Amino acid sequence: MIRNDRITPEGTADMLFSECEAQNAVIGRLRSIFEEKGYREVRTPGLEFFDVFSSNAAYYRPESMYKLTDNRGRLMTVRPDSTIPIARMTATKLKGCELPIRIYYAQQVFRMQPELQGKRAEIMQMGIELIGDSAFDSDVEILTAAAEALEACSSSPFRIEIGHVGIFNRLMSLLDAEAEEKERIYGHIAAKNYAALNDVLYGSPQTEIADMLRALPRLFGGVEALKEAHSLFRGRDAELPGMLEYLERIYKILPELDLDGKIMIDLGLVNQAEYYSSLVFKGYMASSGDAVLSGGRYDGLFKDFGEDLPATGFAFNVDALADGRIKRLAAEDAPSATKATEPARLRIALTKGRLEGEVVSMLEAAGYDVGVLRSKGRRLLLPIPGTNIEIVLAKAADVITYVEHGVCDVGVVGKDTIAEQGGVYYEILDLGVGQCRFALAARAGTDFYEGLGAKRIATKYPNVAASWFESKGMDVQIIRIEGSVELAPLLELADGIVDIVETGSTLRENGLDVIEYIRPVSARMIVNVASMKLKKKEIDALASGLVSVSPGQKNVIPGLSRNP
Ligand code: PRP
Repeated sequence: MIRNDRITPEGTADMLFSECEAQNAVIGRLRSIFEEKGYREVRTPGLEFFDVFSSNAAYYRPESMYKLTDNRGRLMTVRPDSTIPIARMTATKLKGCELPIRIYYAQQVFRMQPELQGKRAEIMQMGIELIGDSAFDSDVEILTAAAEALEACSSSPFRIEIGHVGIFNRLMSLLDAEAEEKERIYGHIAAKNYAALNDVLYGSPQTEIADMLRALPRLFGGVEALKEAHSLFRGRDAELPGMLEYLERIYKILPELDLDGKIMIDLGLVNQAEYYSSLVFKGYMASSGDAVLSGGRYDGLFKDFGEDLPATGFAFNVDALADGRIKRLAAEDAPSATKATEPARLRIALTKGRLEGEVVSMLEAAGYDVGVLRSKGRRLLLPIPGTNIEIVLAKAADVITYVEHGVCDVGVVGKDTIAEQGGVYYEILDLGVGQCRFALAARAGTDFYEGLGAKRIATKYPNVAASWFESKGMDVQIIRIEGSVELAPLLELADGIVDIVETGSTLRENGLDVIEYIRPVSARMIVNVASMKLKKKEIDALASGLVSVSPGQKNVIPGLSRNP
């Protein structure tokens, strides 16, 4: 038997000297800011009964929680979040205390992560909760504390984006649609996937609601986003203008708080829409590809624990702040001759192979000097002359990984890989090139659906195939194949294949026929979530350039002109 006695589980790590020092330095700095503002520390147990989180299953999916049982067989979980246990604790141990209550905490949370993506399963979080106060000033207090703390922990520019999740919740409550469709709309707004959002809302008889939902993900930026939202919502619903005014009130006092230019609006910020109730925000800094700060108002949460208390708060990812500190100290210590050169302002990961030629031609048509891409030899990192753009050539799946981690700001990759791999990033543009279709195919002249027993399906896309057959309620056995999948039925390893079909000649030449088409595929532009906030101008310029030369109707991002 293999003994795992010398390694740590995936997503966890031993922390050595400088890592502990960096984490302690961040915690110390945050602690002094929080304590100075009158917040007092609490700690909740690492183990909680599963029930504490089960009424909030919508907030934390059970499959992402580590579970175990106690000595009476009761289901327990290692806490995936601190706010829910703090709500439990406040509703019970602190019941009757004078309000508002100001709490801070520094403790780990544990979330199961997808395999092999370099994501942490154990995250040190530090945050504050202001409980029992619903006044405007309490939101300002929390936002100011978040900005002050972020400023204290970041030597590079940072951004906080604010949104109002009540707007999204209100529109969803007015929309007459099945839960599954609403789930899809939520996902497309969160991912700024304009094309897919358009598709799902296309033909909706509730044209006004559909218009407003379609607009949400593009209503981001400065005060102009608020103005646009005002004119869009005016006269269409009684509640929406009030929510916008609230956001506007917050936005207007930013100069007084010395936060002008550091905070942007994003009405498409719908993260955990069921947990938060109104103001929501996230914080980004240049050293991290993901948000380092997340928070908002959650007035409904205490009801799960029998209390009715308004509350607001935020949590920092201390590990991300500590990583930023380690990088900064290393850069300061490096002898000047070995100091890393300033990284490109915009790094774009392009999928090599099939898509490469078409995308390079689009870049050329948009006015970029792509000579270096045409005569690249074996080089993989290619700066575009006359710009601050660097192109990275990578395999499709790696394009997504690089963008998700923030080492590349933008990626161009096929929807086939996106559908298979998932991940957290914005999918802002359908480039209209690299068009093909996912299909189920089998040997010509055979009846695929005939016979009993589960069919064997060979594919490079096991997730896409599994979820498609699941949606048909059909049991299949999936076999992963890395390439030339058409071989599998010919060698009688499989009854059928799920693969992409472009011209259909590979199928024809190998005696296979399409049984059913599954979905269309084309090249997409994806963007790292932090880059979208920190480099919006550069990304808008690139997207506008590509829109202006891209074939097809679906490619126009609302708000971006075809002729910049
Ligand atoms: C893709 C796909 C099919 C073929 C379809 O393979 O997996 O095999 O292209 O194209 P067609 O309909 O125009 O014939 P790819 O060339 O990417 O190679 P791989 O199978 O080795 O991954």
